[in-house]
Amino acid sequence: MDPLPHELPADTVRRVASELRCLPTDERVALRLDEEDKLRHFREYFHIPKMQDLPPIDLSLVNKDENAVYLLGNSLGLQPKTVKTYLEEELDKWAKMGAYGHEIGKRPWITGDETIAGLMTDIVGANEKEIVLMNALTVNLHLLLLSFFKPTPKRYKILLEAKAFPSDHYAIESQLQLHGLNIEKSMRIVKPREGEETLRTEDILEVIEKEGDSIAVILFSGMHYYTGQHFNMPAITKAGQAKGCFVGFDLAHAVGNVELHLHDWGVDFACWCSYKYLNSGAGGLAGAFVHEKHAHTIKPALLGWFGHELSTRFKMDNKLQLIPGANGFRISNPPMLLVCSLQASLEIFKKATMKALRRKSVLLTGYLEFLLKHYYGKDKAETKTPVVNIITPSRVEERGCQLTLTFSVPIKSVYQELEKRGVVCDKREPNGIRVAPVPLYNSFHDVYRFINLLNSALEAAERKDNGV
Ligand SMILES: Cc1ncc(COP(=O)(O)O)c(C=O)c1O
Repeated sequence: MDPLPHELPADTVRRVASELRCLPTDERVALRLDEEDKLRHFREYFHIPKMQDLPPIDLSLVNKDENAVYLLGNSLGLQPKTVKTYLEEELDKWAKMGAYGHEIGKRPWITGDETIAGLMTDIVGANEKEIVLMNALTVNLHLLLLSFFKPTPKRYKILLEAKAFPSDHYAIESQLQLHGLNIEKSMRIVKPREGEETLRTEDILEVIEKEGDSIAVILFSGMHYYTGQHFNMPAITKAGQAKGCFVGFDLAHAVGNVELHLHDWGVDFACWCSYKYLNSGAGGLAGAFVHEKHAHTIKPALLGWFGHELSTRFKMDNKLQLIPGANGFRISNPPMLLVCSLQASLEIFKKATMKALRRKSVLLTGYLEFLLKHYYGKDKAETKTPVVNIITPSRVEERGCQLTLTFSVPIKSVYQELEKRGVVCDKREPNGIRVAPVPLYNSFHDVYRFINLLNSALEAAERKDNGV
């Protein structure tokens, strides 16, 4: 169901309900939205976990053969069915020809990462030469900071958002320490206003305007892992660069979730993991971006033989011919098995396209928001219903598919009861439950089922917490 031009998701839901002559909360609305979803067949490309296989499931509460309600693609994406085939192809090649596999087959191992980099261009909005697939996310963040963070007595700070993901926080702390800098003075953290959960763009821009002359690098996440806030990346980039800062992003929660245009926005550098929305499996091959404007000026600080031009790499003469740009940052030979799983997923993205996925995502998450507000919104507080608060921004431009929920009742039991009923989502400190309907494999009916299961989980949690 495509929204009409400029139609808000809630209006689409109401319009469909009125066409069906039913309430917007009726199951038929979810089924109609699925029927009209042009991307619905992509769900078939993935293994959807079954209720019976989930460790915390209570089989007395569910139909064991039913699909789980998997809403955790923001943490670990589901497995594309072709992963196994691709892995088997490489395992077979290895078994049959050993080292000859380096140069032969669909994915010669020496250039395996390069064979799939082209599949990433539309996802991050970059040229192939600006993208490199290597290592894991935090490792890449370190490698990029080693090159982009060159503090001087006047310009020595790194600017980041409050409650950044711990790994980013530690990476920044340790980079500052490497330069002998005082962490308190050099780690400039932008916090939300008193009583607010998310950051206002104007507040971020104000800090950049006021303190930009002393900031060497701005390192923000594209999408905050906890609140689900999608930061205004082009505005931050423009403001930072106007003040002479390098601007980089951790795209762990943005890549494959929202449309990105790293090249056109002029972002200096970025890095991301691939096991969340990009479905490459735990510990999958990560990515990094270095804008082409830096190809000949910003060099890797740490070198390895895979940063050397392929044409002369195997001359073994120890005379480095560094590949300009992102690919020069490679240190080691690519992990072939990780290339397979990432390729399987990226091929699906190529077919679906980020544009179409994002369009569906806006409606899918909008439908979830609509139902949550309908049953558990603040205005229902007079009734005895528990209130579910959505801390993720309500403006579509400021969020991706994830909504972070806080509850007027203790969440521990609510979360346990959801798990028992086959809802796969997660609980994050201090008090949020993150729910992410992923447009590639989640359906509108998944969202409908989630709301019903949430209802029964809340009732069961209340009984448990009251000792009934
Ligand atoms: C925002 C963010 N940064 C960094 C990481 C750490 O990633 P890795 O363990 O792949 O280095 C994660 C992992 O979930 C993350 O969400």
